[in-house]
Amino acid sequence: MPTNPTDPQSRILTEEYEVLHEVARVLHSSKGLKNMLEDVLEVLTGFNELKVEKKAGIFLADPEKKVLNLYCMLGKFTDEFLEKEKVVPYGDCLCGRVAESGQLLMSESCFTDARHERKYEGMQAHGHYIVPLKTGEKFLGVMFLYTNTHPAWYQHSQEVLLSIGGLVANAIENSLIEEELKNYRNHLEVLVAERTADLKQVSTTLEKEVAERTHAERELTIIREQLRNLGNHLQNIREEEKTRIAREVHDELGQSLTALKMDLVCLKEELPSNQPEPQERIQSMSGLIDSTITSVQRISTELRPQILDIFGLCEAIAWQAKEYEKRTNLQFDLNCAHVPLDNKELTTDLFRIFQETLTNVVRHAEADRVKVRFRQQDNKFILEIEDNGKGMPPGKIEDSQSLGLIGIRERVLFLGGEVEFLGEAGKGTKVVVKVPLES
Ligand SMILES: Nc1ncnc2c1ncn2[C@@H]1O[C@H](COP(=O)(O)OP(=O)(O)OP(=O)(O)O)[C@@H](O)[C@H]1O
Ligand SMILES: [Mg+2]
Repeated sequence: MPTNPTDPQSRILTEEYEVLHEVARVLHSSKGLKNMLEDVLEVLTGFNELKVEKKAGIFLADPEKKVLNLYCMLGKFTDEFLEKEKVVPYGDCLCGRVAESGQLLMSESCFTDARHERKYEGMQAHGHYIVPLKTGEKFLGVMFLYTNTHPAWYQHSQEVLLSIGGLVANAIENSLIEEELKNYRNHLEVLVAERTADLKQVSTTLEKEVAERTHAERELTIIREQLRNLGNHLQNIREEEKTRIAREVHDELGQSLTALKMDLVCLKEELPSNQPEPQERIQSMSGLIDSTITSVQRISTELRPQILDIFGLCEAIAWQAKEYEKRTNLQFDLNCAHVPLDNKELTTDLFRIFQETLTNVVRHAEADRVKVRFRQQDNKFILEIEDNGKGMPPGKIEDSQSLGLIGIRERVLFLGGEVEFLGEAGKGTKVVVKVPLES
């Protein structure tokens, strides 16, 4: 419907529209809450139809303490007023009543309205509009506007004032939320900074620990390697010593005993046959020399079987197996391929591992069959020794007291190979040694 500017009704409508528009514009500026609210009060005091004086203010609600706190004002107020109105409890005077009821209030005169409980020195007669500031049901404060005495409602004044109250309340709520967000963000930033500092500290400590650990591990590896080298060196010395003693015992003692025996035979022939006593003594001496020669051969072979150096590992294993068969009730099942092994140290190591494993079988396994398999596969020698005894008790493999097993493992590791001790209670034990060809 077209409006006529001279018609009072349409003039009011235009003014309402302009005021609402101006309030909305002010509240969209980014001047900060207090400045925005002061500008809103300024706009409202220019609302002719409401006949507002240039005196107004806004309280913000503190719902926990149930009080209104004076937030901003427009116009001149006495010091007494400012001091007394700083904090107004809910229910007190006009503004406190609006805080309780949440309803718009109009008061005709501060002197005649009994609800206007607070009086001030030099107070002039005036009326009030007290507008609740609410978003939905949430109460955020109160806006008071001074008027002439006996302000009269015009047709839509209540709706307009409540709408403006809603707009102001929205602005206050947004600002409070922003403030809360800002505080929260600041709090988070402090937390993140603290946490980062903590993590940095932990990370530095960890780095230090890792470095120390790495250093200790490196040292341990070096010491282990030195020990392994030393062990191997001692084994080699022992082996050389055994070989030397075996050779001396075999050659020198053996030759001397053989010469002694031959001398004895000559002596026997030179003695007259009618002297039985010396003849018998020579006979028994000859028997003693024979058994000493056998002992010398046994000792020399046990120290280091010559067969190992002359015929190689397979024959040495076969010979050793026969020796065990003679001395124990073990039956051997041998499957040894003729693998060309011209590395004397490797041959010795594998043979000693075989002997140590067999000693364990005889001492601990209570077995009657042993399977031995020696072969070459790809670029590895594989020696497998399996008994049908009671099986290795759990924990023995890792036991630091198992010096025999440790010795085997160390020999194999020195050769760059690997060893496995497999077995279950009642199902025998299998030792698998794998060493690389190039070792
Ligand atoms: N073939 C096997 N069957 C059953 N148990 C075994 C076998 N081999 C080893 N064991 C168990 O493992 C343990 C450790 O063996 P290891 O050779 O290290 O030590 P040991 O034979 O007891 O003493 P030594 O130092 O004289 O060799 C043995 O005491 C035994 O209990
Ligand atoms: Mg042993």
